[in-house]
Amino acid sequence: MSGETTPSLIDKAGVAGQVSLSASTESAWIEVIQKMDEVYADLVRYQIALEAKNAALEEAQQFIRSVLSAMTDVLIVCDKRGRIEQVNAALERLTGHAAEAVMQQRVEALFMPESRPLAEKFPEKLATGGLVDCEVSLCGANGEAVPLAMNCSARYDHEGRLMGMVLIGRPVGELRRAYDELNSAHQQLQKTQQHLIHSEKMASLGRLVAGVAHELNNPISFVYGNAHALKRYGEGITRYITAIDAGTAPDALRELRAELKIDRILRDLTPLIAGTMEGAERVSDIVQELRRYSASRQEAARAYDVVEVIHKALSWVFKVERRTPQLDLDLPDTLMVEGHPGHVHQILVNLVQNAMDVMEDLGEQRLSIACHVEADVVTISVRDYGPGIPAEALNQVFDPFYSSKPVGKGTGLGLYVSYGMATDLGGELTAINHPDGGALFTLRLPREGGLHERA
Ligand SMILES: Nc1ncnc2c1ncn2[C@@H]1O[C@H](COP(=O)(O)OP(=O)(O)OP(=O)(O)O)[C@@H](O)[C@H]1O
Ligand SMILES: [Mg+2]
Repeated sequence: MSGETTPSLIDKAGVAGQVSLSASTESAWIEVIQKMDEVYADLVRYQIALEAKNAALEEAQQFIRSVLSAMTDVLIVCDKRGRIEQVNAALERLTGHAAEAVMQQRVEALFMPESRPLAEKFPEKLATGGLVDCEVSLCGANGEAVPLAMNCSARYDHEGRLMGMVLIGRPVGELRRAYDELNSAHQQLQKTQQHLIHSEKMASLGRLVAGVAHELNNPISFVYGNAHALKRYGEGITRYITAIDAGTAPDALRELRAELKIDRILRDLTPLIAGTMEGAERVSDIVQELRRYSASRQEAARAYDVVEVIHKALSWVFKVERRTPQLDLDLPDTLMVEGHPGHVHQILVNLVQNAMDVMEDLGEQRLSIACHVEADVVTISVRDYGPGIPAEALNQVFDPFYSSKPVGKGTGLGLYVSYGMATDLGGELTAINHPDGGALFTLRLPREGGLHERA
């Protein structure tokens, strides 16, 4: 019904005016008609208001219905004892049950057997503030488990009385599947990475072996050649001595001496032996160089002079390299430290060797070595005057197998091993480029309580 003006009952009873009635009866009638008119108008107003309220209610319900059915999370409304009063479309979809079919059922009936004990406790959990993100599994449309992250909270009426509970569950199956996939992809990636590292290590080992074989080949063939010559010389000398012992005449002896080139042999003998020894030393040097890759980690901590170790490392590299750069040394005479001299020696050999490598082709080769103690820390710095480390390689030089050197010359393990050893010693190894050029490596080591300077 609309709000259009309705004809008054007085108008409808207009004919009455033409009827001749006594004055009192007429006024009584008019009063009755007016009252009826008022009641009728009120009725019409109520009807209009009611219709408006109905429309608003309908709209509100429609709004709630649309929200509930748009929810992807599961919604279950129960009374205080856990009987279902309302569910949303998400629950219908997941369980395959129509809302009407589950009304007034116990809520735990919706869950998988293993989740029921917890679901039965929902009502009593309300007293302690409900449940947050507990994991339960709904019984899916095909009997499968549908995992949910469930929140359970209390529902009150307008006077604050407990009416029941509201359960909201977020399906986590998709999330879990995605997580599992991510996890297995991650594991796969880790495996691939390990394979890569392994094959990289093998390749590097191959390069190392090829380099070592090449390095060893020279002095060994040198020693081998010399040994052959010595053998020949030995045979000549033996023949000559045998002739002397046999009392050969001086002229014949002179002839034999010339024939056997005894004088040349005697002249050659010393350099030949020196060369052979040099070759053997080179082999021994190479073997020692190899040993720096297999540092003995069992070495016990002991007091040692770090300055002596620095000097030893320097001379070791210079001897192997057969060249000595200009040296700027800023070192105390001695500096006693407690720790592992073998490791420190190896780190320094690696640093000095790298410095020598980058300056190999430079006319002027210069190296600055400094050692200081401050508080509990010993700082040793090795600075060269080479080209420095390219900016893009600064954070790569400590990576295993990073090397800018040709195959056979560098394995890229020197700084990696050194970094690991410095860390094992409780210290650190850092690399920067000096503002005035060249690379600056700094090794910091703890005093380990045993550090003291000797007078
Ligand atoms: N003083 C330096 N100046 C410039 N670059 C350097 C210096 N020291 C190291 N690098 C760079 O860091 C790389 C890695 O050095 P690292 O000592 O780990 O390996 P390598 O010297 O190449 O091989 P090796 O295993 O024989 O030591 C070098 O190849 C070089 O590119
Ligand atoms: Mg190196």
